[in-house]
Order: sequence, then C-alpha cells, then structure tokens
Amino acid sequence: MLRRLYHDQPASFAFTPANRAWAEAQITKYPEGRQASAIIPLLWRAQEQEGWLTRPAIEYVADMLGMAYMRALEVASFYFMFQLQPVGSVAHFQICGTTTCMICGAEDLVAVCRDKIAAKPHTLSADGKFSWEEVECLGSCANAPMAQIGKDYYEDLTAKRLAEIIDELAAGQVPVPGPQNGRYASEPLSGLSSLKDMDSGRTQYNASVQLAVDIGDTVKRIDGTEVPLTAPWQGVSGQGKDAKDTPRVPKPPAAKAPVPDEAEKIGKPPVKPAATPSPAAAEGSKPAALDAPRETGADDLKLIKGVGPKLEAMLHRMGFFHFDQIAKWSAAEVAWVDANLEGFKGRVTRDDWVAQASVLADGGKTEFSNHAKKGEV
Ligand code: FES
Repeated sequence: MLRRLYHDQPASFAFTPANRAWAEAQITKYPEGRQASAIIPLLWRAQEQEGWLTRPAIEYVADMLGMAYMRALEVASFYFMFQLQPVGSVAHFQICGTTTCMICGAEDLVAVCRDKIAAKPHTLSADGKFSWEEVECLGSCANAPMAQIGKDYYEDLTAKRLAEIIDELAAGQVPVPGPQNGRYASEPLSGLSSLKDMDSGRTQYNASVQLAVDIGDTVKRIDGTEVPLTAPWQGVSGQGKDAKDTPRVPKPPAAKAPVPDEAEKIGKPPVKPAATPSPAAAEGSKPAALDAPRETGADDLKLIKGVGPKLEAMLHRMGFFHFDQIAKWSAAEVAWVDANLEGFKGRVTRDDWVAQASVLADGGKTEFSNHAKKGEV
C-alpha cells in the first residue's frame, strides 16, 4: 500500500504544553547525540493528540529532535500504526483480517464497517465520526474475530455486536472493551475445566479490560493533562492517586525548563540562560564569529544535512551565518561548537558539517542540498 502525506494538510501543529513537557522528558531517556531515538514515541504522542499525523506534526517532531524532515517522514510512512490521513473524530476501527479472525468472521466485520462507516477503508464516515481499516494480526487470536477501536481491543465480536458498538459510540458511550460474548478472558467457551480456583478474588474484568475501564481513554484524544507525568530517570515521580492508578500516560515534569525558543512556542516566558558557563563551553576553542550576516545576507544553513530551522537559529545566535565560516572550522573549533549546541551536541561531527559547508561555500551541491532545494526534505 502506498503511504503518502494526505493532500489536505492543516497550517500548523504544536504539542499542548503538557504533551510538550512529556515529549521533552522522553528525549532525556537517550544519550547525547541520540535524541532522534525518541522519534516513535513523539510521533505517537502527536497522533494521540490529533488523531492522525499531519505534515506539520511530523516536521514539528523532526525540529524537536534536530532531524531532517525526510528522516521523520521515513519513519511515519514506514509504520502502518501511523495514520497519514484524517481518522474519525470519535473512533478509528482496526479490524483484524488475519487467518484466525478471517476464519471466525472478520469478513462480516469488514462488511459492517463498509455499510455503517464508509465503503472504503481510510475514509471518513459521512458525519466524520468514524473511519476504519483492515490490519494484520493484533495478537488476540484466541478471541477472534476482534478489532482495535481507539486504544483498546474488542474481542469475540459478531457483526451484530460490532454494529451495536458503532451505534453506542455514535451516541457518546464507550462500550466496555474485551470479550463481547461473556468470556472473562481467553478461557474455553464452555468454561474453565482446570485451575478453577483462579475464579475467586478476581476483578470484575480481566486485567487488560479493567485497566482500560479504569483509565477510560479508549477513544480519547490525549492532551497530556490526563495523568501527572512520571519520569523517574529525572527524579520526577507521580503525584496523587492518579499516578498510581493510571500508569499508561505520564505527567509533566517539574524540573526541566524549556529553552527560550521552545518557550515561545508553548506560551511560557523564556528562561534566562545560566550565568555560569557549562563545563561543555570550555571544550575546544570558539571559532571566529560575526555580529550579523554580511551584506549579501546569510546563507541557507539548512542546506547542510542535519541543520533544521532550530539549529540554524542557534547557529545565528552564535554568530555563524555563512558556509565559508563553517568550512574553516578546525578540529578544536568543531569540538567547541559540538559541545555548545544545546540539545544537539555532537551534530557537527555526526553529519560532517565542515565537509558539507566546504562544498556549498565553493558553490557546489551536496546530495542533501540538491533534494532540499527541490523541497524534497
Ligand atoms: S488473527 Fe486476528 S488477532 Fe490474530
């Protein structure tokens, strides 16, 4: 299946402040220079917030991670879990169509979706509330046929029950996930024949369903305020009973302040840089800098692979506006810049900016700049 960006895109995307804080906390899980490893959780949170992944959302996440837009798009378009087109405002249905579910009636479920939602998958229903698709095995084969609706699994489905679920969701209800035929979990339909004492003391629903019911976010868009952020690796633990009861969604960090340009985006006052230089600032030697670009204007530093709008702005603040400046950096100067790119340390070396800048300063083109000029990144 060809996966492309949707033809009709919104003008912009921004995480909610709480989701932004959550995303920044995720990035700190990874070592310096490896922030791009957070791409999947960040894209996923953007999708949880909006329902689908827009181009501005992909670019926003790429900027947060200092990645080329194309790299982020590669990830978003590779994984089918990312929705590249709008989904229903209430719920997106993922009908498992793999062997076990197919044998047990998946085709009937797809027929219900065609009838009640839209004739074709990845298409909004007439009222915009629903969309559907057929997916590969979701690992709940013992409860076939099944579907994932929003975040949760609805199992042991029949065409009739699926139609009812659609109607209930349209009416603003959220049906209880899990087996829909009275089974507790995946025990034999005829009931337990062994380990019968397991019946005593169990919760009303099996563990997965109980958690889904307790959290109640089956079809909810996530804005980050649902549950306090727990980021134990930063010494930020949960607060209140929600932190214990609802571990699926973290809460905002208490300690990490946004850097100034990020603060603008989330509507918070910029945070002043620390008065004392960080140890990193002492590494290497600072290259010659300019107060402003020359009269000809600044070069487009984004033609250097690895430099996005955020890094370009950071370089300008440091006094670097031109390819020939970067092309002349010595090893000690590269070390200084690498150590002072807050949030992007090591990028100069990783992407060999000096070699790229040398080509560009001489009027040449790199493979990346060629694509960038055509708007392909
Ligand atoms: S075949 Fe449908 S969940 Fe495995």
